Amino acid sequence: MRKVHIVGNWKMNQNLEEINSFSGAVQDMNDISCEAWIAPQAIHINLLKMKASSIKVGAQNCSNHDSGAFTGELSPKSLKDLGAHFVIVGHSERRAIFGEDDALLNEKVLKALENNLKVILCVGETLEERESGEFKSILKNQLLLGLKNISASKKGDILIAYEPVWAIGTGKVASPAQAQEVHALLREELKSVSGLDAQQTPILYGGSVKPDNIQGLLENADIDGALVGGASLKPDSFKDLCKLTK
Ligand code: PGA
Repeated sequence: MRKVHIVGNWKMNQNLEEINSFSGAVQDMNDISCEAWIAPQAIHINLLKMKASSIKVGAQNCSNHDSGAFTGELSPKSLKDLGAHFVIVGHSERRAIFGEDDALLNEKVLKALENNLKVILCVGETLEERESGEFKSILKNQLLLGLKNISASKKGDILIAYEPVWAIGTGKVASPAQAQEVHALLREELKSVSGLDAQQTPILYGGSVKPDNIQGLLENADIDGALVGGASLKPDSFKDLCKLTK
């Protein structure tokens, strides 16, 4: 059975004071049944890990290299040393703002896996792509190119996040039916990725997920959790999201 994952993506938010108060407020989370993960800014990974023991902590991005002359980059090897459990690769903000393409993202996926990090590979279409009717083939490409050359020994370390760009930070959540349609399609495509077990790979939905809409999403057979931006910043809503997965 696939375990439900609630993953907070804090983006470039949360100062030290906010992290301290968040950590204090989530001390009572030990009774939750889902996997509760958060990706803070990388400079705060160690702090959050020390302070919030019920949460697994990860990164929002990593380099496609382990080390070398890459000023400003985040080494996946060092992220692992720091205690990161996972890394988000291919978030739409990385694709759109930083110009990351599928070939680079595939290198990042492979490098993160090589360093024993779990990987959440994000895919998602823009509004124009959805309206043009091309979105299914765009998503399929993002998925298959991102997962090229995965070794079968790493199949338990891959998660997918479907995040329609038009739903991120907009308050416009995809309907459960829209999300399920894409998740089923992605699961079907995963069957063609050699080395992966399509049935066991968690596929999370992301885009304006909140405590009041998560249950409708999770009722669907192929939606295994959520990647959450805004609603993961406040401890109460993050805790509610985790509790509502029961
Ligand atoms: P949101 O962000 O929940 O604020 O829409 C989701 C994401 O960007 O991962």
